[in-house]
Amino acid sequence: MSENLDNPQRDHQEEWGEETSGLIEDDDQRPALSAEDGSGEPRASDGDHDHAQRTSSSASEASPNEPVLMATAPDTALASVSQPGPKGYAVRVVNLQKHYQLGGETVKALRGVSFDVPVGDYIAIMGPSGSGKSTLLNLLGCLDRPTSGNFFLGADDIAQMSDDQLSEIRASRIGFVFQSYNLIQQLTVVENIEVPLYYRGNITATDHKRALDLAGMVGLESRLDHRPMQLSGGQQQRAAIARSLINDPYFMLADEPTGNLDSVTTKTILDLLQKLNNQGKTIIMVTHEDDVAEQSKRIIRLKDGQIQVDKRIRPL
Ligand SMILES: Nc1ncnc2c1ncn2[C@@H]1O[C@H](COP(=O)(O)OP(=O)(O)O)[C@@H](O)[C@H]1O
Ligand SMILES: [Mg+2]
Repeated sequence: MSENLDNPQRDHQEEWGEETSGLIEDDDQRPALSAEDGSGEPRASDGDHDHAQRTSSSASEASPNEPVLMATAPDTALASVSQPGPKGYAVRVVNLQKHYQLGGETVKALRGVSFDVPVGDYIAIMGPSGSGKSTLLNLLGCLDRPTSGNFFLGADDIAQMSDDQLSEIRASRIGFVFQSYNLIQQLTVVENIEVPLYYRGNITATDHKRALDLAGMVGLESRLDHRPMQLSGGQQQRAAIARSLINDPYFMLADEPTGNLDSVTTKTILDLLQKLNNQGKTIIMVTHEDDVAEQSKRIIRLKDGQIQVDKRIRPL
């Protein structure tokens, strides 16, 4: 899945029309291949994921083979104790540790990370290179399991799950948005939006309608039959955002979602994320950029595998 960086049709400076039926309208001048009415709202999140009892928020350094049961929090670890939103928590992580074995050495990529994510939160994860952002994102995305600690998604402790269960959750309950969009080049916009549904089986008429609605919601109702090559970077990212929502995920996990975009397009994507968050979507985003992070409601800054700062900058 390439990034189409050389695609001459990619117009970096997107123009935007007034808001209409969807969240945003695509004001692109290219002729539309399809003009079906795809506007509409996605179904609301059922959102009631508040089951996990909070346990310890302590952090520790443990030797790699030693289970971490009790430990004291280092000064720098400001474990978040957020109040649950009216709909409970989307995610809670407790004392997450991730150690990698590298040539006989143990790399402690995460050294006791604890935080709660109430439904409706919008978190920017920041930190210098090597601080553990990607490692944390891999855990949150169920791409990997922690060395120790707990990761509650609803009532389920992901840390205890089998690989098959992790794959199932990854496909059905988490919405991924990547820096390089990761759309399938051979598929149209609407087909790309439907991709996560294939993991569940057949796509029903209701599913298809939902994909059309999501395309409309991100302003791509006149681009339904376009393939990624025919879209600008911003449009591709909007398709990817719609795809991330097709399963009504517990949360959206965005890894540098504006990292490949110019500043004008970045703003349109951030506006879209903000509107989705205003509708109740929970967003966890990794970013290097302060001005991107400032669009969120809460900044978690990692340093050396620990939370250095967990600061709410907007109310839930
Ligand atoms: N698969 C791996 N094997 C060994 N060490 C790793 C692996 N992945 C990450 N690390 C190490 O873990 C630490 C955190 O890395 P990472 O999570 O990629 O940080 P960031 O995304 O903030 O740059 C770094 O020291 C990195 O070298
Ligand atoms: Mg990284």
